[in-house]
Amino acid sequence: AAAPAHAATEATPVVIGHRGVPVEAPENTLASIDRAARLGTVWVENDVQRTKDGALIVMHDTTLERTTDAKRRYPGRAPWKVADFTLDEIENLDAGSWYDSRFTGERVPTLDRYLRRVDHNHQKLLLEVKAPELYPGIERQVVAELRRSGWLDRQHIDEGLVVQSFSAPSLKTLHKLRPDIKKGFLGAPKAAGLRSYAEFADQINPDHTRITADWVAAAHALDGPHGRRLEVCAWTVDDEDKAVGLARMGVDGIITNAPHVIAAALDDD
Ligand code: G3P
Ligand code: CA
Repeated sequence: AAAPAHAATEATPVVIGHRGVPVEAPENTLASIDRAARLGTVWVENDVQRTKDGALIVMHDTTLERTTDAKRRYPGRAPWKVADFTLDEIENLDAGSWYDSRFTGERVPTLDRYLRRVDHNHQKLLLEVKAPELYPGIERQVVAELRRSGWLDRQHIDEGLVVQSFSAPSLKTLHKLRPDIKKGFLGAPKAAGLRSYAEFADQINPDHTRITADWVAAAHALDGPHGRRLEVCAWTVDDEDKAVGLARMGVDGIITNAPHVIAAALDDD
């Protein structure tokens, strides 16, 4: 299938591994993207946050206790906010054993290591700036890391990268810094209000339960900031029939915890 930013209405939606392939490996780890790559998943989604000492790391929750052993390692430091721990402290955590003992020793990746691995795997990235209101200035830092690791060259920008967020202000900041990076707004604005998002977002990515065929058509009727029609990527869709139904509504991408399963279902349809 074509990359989301180029998909045609009739094309099979691009399948995007949500946090890697969390039905097979711990979310937001290098193990997860490697596993996704082995299963043939080209597009992966991740979440980026910032440590106390200003490093960018890949993690979904704004606290450490669900996906690491922080609670055991640092018992006196509840509620284990990402922003209260240094990179050194976070890199010493185990981000795999909570999931399965086979992944014991897996680390929380820095954004830098993660970007290099996605590239090494020839994968493409839907990068979510998570809770940017907690991390003032994170947009500029994300841009700097993308540049440092080679992700702002023509090929990556044109074909392999979308930055998304639930925060419209954060996306607007990013758009001012780098209008050339494609952006996705996470949410489901009313059809009548989509036009204002199209000024800075190339994609509108809603919870799949909010999507109707009419809403997809309304999004597709608008052009984004790069002069191509707005795209729609639905999350988080693990049910094969639902994925097929969304494909028939014309969505451009499906974000899923089981990308290999959903890709096979879409291929069979
Ligand atoms: O990519 C969509 C999805 O990741 C948004 O929700 O909470 O999983 O980051 P969440
Ligand atoms: Ca996410």
